[in-house]
Amino acid sequence: MLARADQPVRLRTERLLLRPPQPKDAAKMQRLVSDIAVARTTGTIPHPYPPGAAQAFIRRLLAASQTAAGNRLTLDLAIARAEDDAFLGMVKITSGPSAAPANVAYYVGRPHWGQGYATEAVWAAVRFGFEQCGLDRFETAVFDGNDASMRVLAKVGFRSIGRDVRFYAARGGLRSVRLFGLERCDRSTLCPRTVSRDYGTHRRDAEG
Ligand SMILES: CC(C)(COP(=O)(O)OP(=O)(O)OC[C@H]1O[C@@H](n2cnc3c(N)ncnc32)[C@H](O)[C@@H]1OP(=O)(O)O)[C@@H](O)C(=O)NCCC(=O)NCCS
Repeated sequence: MLARADQPVRLRTERLLLRPPQPKDAAKMQRLVSDIAVARTTGTIPHPYPPGAAQAFIRRLLAASQTAAGNRLTLDLAIARAEDDAFLGMVKITSGPSAAPANVAYYVGRPHWGQGYATEAVWAAVRFGFEQCGLDRFETAVFDGNDASMRVLAKVGFRSIGRDVRFYAARGGLRSVRLFGLERCDRSTLCPRTVSRDYGTHRRDAEG
């Protein structure tokens, strides 16, 4: 069944709720993305992050359509911890009307790294793209050296497909990137087993 265009998307995973960002997320979003450790490996988050930018970003998203339909979508979802709805990060999937591959982008705030949250969120978003939006292929670029992100993609089932050099205005120049792809026929690799490792033995989130 394909997603309905008039329904906001909410995806539940074992530990997470992916949902449209809410005004209540603004303060924590502002704090998490103001961290250079988060911004520097993204193509879009400016640093320094302007005061009030998170609130404005959420307002813009709420004013725009946060829905998915057919094989064309722009979907920005907050990654929230299911147990208390705490904002942890964002995951975004985009696809155009053509046969061009869809894209997935994501960040998790530094206090929450290493808990498997990005993997769980990317897995859910990509699966939603394949199963509910009729997407056939994802491609995403990762800055050279962003080994944590490459590991996330590998755990979800993405494969390395090449290299490129791309311009990122938010980073003020060109960056060497590694390209990763995942096709719908790879879906068997989207196995919950790859993301449900026991994180109970690892450090807990450094903050709520
Ligand atoms: C990349 C990012 C999303 C990962 O979030 P996360 O929730 O910590 O990711 P997960 O816990 O799901 O998985 C991270 C994996 O990378 C591994 N990892 C972390 N740092 C690593 C490093 N320096 N080298 C190799 N692997 C590393 C972790 O051990 C884990 O793998 P494992 O489960 O096999 O042990 C997070 O670091 C982030 O937001 N970074 C800034 C923004 C960004 O780079 N976004 C992606 C742009 S392409």
